[in-house]
Amino acid sequence: MEMSGFKTARHVPALWLYVVTCFTFMSILFGIIAIALGAAAIRSTHDNEDQIAVTEERLNALGGGDTQREASVNEGPVETLIAPKPGRAFNTSRAPRSGRRQFNMAVVVHGLDSDTFWYSVQQGVLDAAELFGVHFFYDNPQNTEEQDGHLKMAEDINKARKSLRDGLAVSIPDESVLRSAIARAAEEIPVLTINSGANFSEELGAFTHIGQLEFEAGVRAGERMRDLGVTSAICVRHEVSLALDERCDGFQLGLNGTVHRTDAPAEDLSTSIQDQVRLALDENSDAQGILALGPAGFEPAKAELGDRVCSGDSAPENSDCIEFGTFDVSPGILNSLVNGEVNFGIDQQEYLQGYLAIAFLYWKAAFGGSIGSGGVVMSGPTFVDSAEQAQLLLGRNYTTMDSLSGKILTFLDIRYVVDGKPQDKFWQRVKRGVKYVANLYGTPVDYNEPENSFSNQEVINFMRDEIQRAIDDNVDGLVVSIPSDNAVLRTLVGEAMTKGIPVISMASGVDLFESWNIPLHVGMGEEFGGRQVGKRLAESGVNNAICLIHNNPDAALEERCAGLLAGMQEVIPTAQVQRLRSRETSGAGDNRFQTGQAGLSDRMRDAVVETIEADESINGVVALGPPGSVPAVEAVKQLGAECDGVKTPDSTPARGGCIVVATFDVEFPVFNFIEERSVEFAVDPGPFFQGALPLMFMALQNLWNNMPVGLVNSGPTFVDVENVGGFEVFA
Ligand SMILES: *[C@@H]1O[C@H](CO)[C@@H](O)[C@H](O)[C@H]1NC(C)=O
Ligand SMILES: *[C@@H]1O[C@H](CO)[C@@H](O)[C@H](O)[C@H]1NC(C)=O
Ligand SMILES: *[C@@H]1O[C@H](CO)[C@@H](O)[C@H](O)[C@H]1NC(C)=O
Ligand SMILES: *[C@@H]1O[C@H](CO)[C@@H](O)[C@H](O)[C@H]1NC(C)=O
Repeated sequence: MEMSGFKTARHVPALWLYVVTCFTFMSILFGIIAIALGAAAIRSTHDNEDQIAVTEERLNALGGGDTQREASVNEGPVETLIAPKPGRAFNTSRAPRSGRRQFNMAVVVHGLDSDTFWYSVQQGVLDAAELFGVHFFYDNPQNTEEQDGHLKMAEDINKARKSLRDGLAVSIPDESVLRSAIARAAEEIPVLTINSGANFSEELGAFTHIGQLEFEAGVRAGERMRDLGVTSAICVRHEVSLALDERCDGFQLGLNGTVHRTDAPAEDLSTSIQDQVRLALDENSDAQGILALGPAGFEPAKAELGDRVCSGDSAPENSDCIEFGTFDVSPGILNSLVNGEVNFGIDQQEYLQGYLAIAFLYWKAAFGGSIGSGGVVMSGPTFVDSAEQAQLLLGRNYTTMDSLSGKILTFLDIRYVVDGKPQDKFWQRVKRGVKYVANLYGTPVDYNEPENSFSNQEVINFMRDEIQRAIDDNVDGLVVSIPSDNAVLRTLVGEAMTKGIPVISMASGVDLFESWNIPLHVGMGEEFGGRQVGKRLAESGVNNAICLIHNNPDAALEERCAGLLAGMQEVIPTAQVQRLRSRETSGAGDNRFQTGQAGLSDRMRDAVVETIEADESINGVVALGPPGSVPAVEAVKQLGAECDGVKTPDSTPARGGCIVVATFDVEFPVFNFIEERSVEFAVDPGPFFQGALPLMFMALQNLWNNMPVGLVNSGPTFVDVENVGGFEVFA
């Protein structure tokens, strides 16, 4: 059998030479420069302001109107705007590749330069900016005075909006102060949020949030403790904060046992954190575990526990030792891990918050794709639980570009094993995404897809053989799709992970990856996709929609309908959805449609018309795939109820309103329907990103041991009259 995998062409862009050079030769140079610069933090803020001020002066002299706005267009030599990095002469001002526009991104965050946590975020920003060839403006408070009240942040956000940046990444330390600035920016430029403020991200119009969810991380910490044999534990609240309470709430759920929370230390300092920990241990003699919520709680808890921490063979089952875990992996915590003074640290992988922010903004600007799609991309938690791991992380140095494993991207062996066939348009777009990132990083990829003629069983056998080959070759990363809950494939994937091969699943299998214990999946959740569609429809006034299920039974389509209803009801609590299903078996006297039937399209159209005639309050039709879009459009035309971009669904069709059509189908003729406004919007699940992102994540995993966790939503991106042109080219 011929292998249908392709080895992607290896373009070696100038950038790539630069990066390779960095890896191999420039560490020493960077070291010297580092000394020269001292531990100077990012200086961009002032540089930017100076530059803009100078430009404004020039424009004013020329009699320019809205100087802020013009400033962005007329900014002088960009090199001066680029941030130098602590310890590193970093120049991101590469010329854009010929014919391409240079993008300008803004990063506005609340962390001070003196806070080492943010060094990794900054490095992520720099690395991605270099890779994608974008400029960025990094603005943060320069002292506690500027930090207090966050007014400086609001100003910086306004500045990014007025200069029409191509994208803004912003943290939300205080929602009440920043709310209006962020919401206003999001109306004019693409915005995503990082690090803090997940709860408000979507509401304020950001297209995604990248960070660690407090509750979710707490759950994982609880599960970890439970796996260690703990049933009763103490959660150390080192200060009064909603975020810390969420961590404890999640911890309790994950542990599924007893959790005692310490009180925060007294404001008058009459009790310390250590006093509170001692008190909790005294009052809860059955406690077998302690969770600290950050360095501030970790140190006093460590002091109180002394040598009571479990280690070696001692465990809660056989001794009165205490399992001790903590949020964060500060140098102090990593050193304690090396010394066996704590059992695990929780890493939120803040490097990814910077890196992915730039990467996702770039893809939004360049292709219009909304990665994350209103949901959260979880940069963590991951667990550091061995001395070896901690030692590695202590040695990791972004500044010198010393990767954890010493691996170089051009020598990685990344293997894709998928069930999608070459003739499938969806999978052709997946493959394009893989090639795009392979060229970007110069990483070779071995992409394995079944032949067009394969039966379902042959596809499984093919995947089995290819995954086995990947295990035998000890690849640097395995990317798989999950066509079904097949026990053989599942066992093999488990074997790969046990062997230490990083595994990511993509496209099919969004409902299975967790039960396969795969840490990360890139795809569109069915319920999630439906929900986002529902919200958008309801916001345009639709409160009673048909969910047109073209295939039956089909659990995925049913989930989309469930999501559709939930999303609509988030906006309009009384909203309804009617599921119009294909018949499972033929039955006499039923004129509804049936999967695979001759003239299916016409019958579906008639069924939609009939349903609307029976209930004139229906003002939306959602087709769930290509078989449904033409019948949905034809039915609405036959009823003379098209919206045409003029009428609105607010009043029912019978009373002069119209019926909105939306569809999960991004191919011709839907593009034409969108242009003539007979389809309001189509839903793109992001196949390009389902191919592209896993490779990017594998690269980051191999360099820094950093990869997001959970589900990364590659869609939905809405294709409407505003952006349909771009998608036609794309498809
Ligand atoms: C990384 O390397 C630089 C330059 O050699 C050095 O100044 C810095 O302290 C190192 N950082 C860590 C975390 O080791
Ligand atoms: C940065 O790169 C640009 C383009 O390669 C170059 O013109 C400029 O001199 C560089 N700046 C520094 C500070 O190295
Ligand atoms: C975020 O939302 C969740 C669920 O609605 C809520 O329990 C939590 O308190 C919120 N967190 C913050 C910081 O507002
Ligand atoms: C939690 O514990 C109870 C009994 O202690 C058990 O019945 C239940 O199944 C557990 N739940 C989970 C999710 O493990």
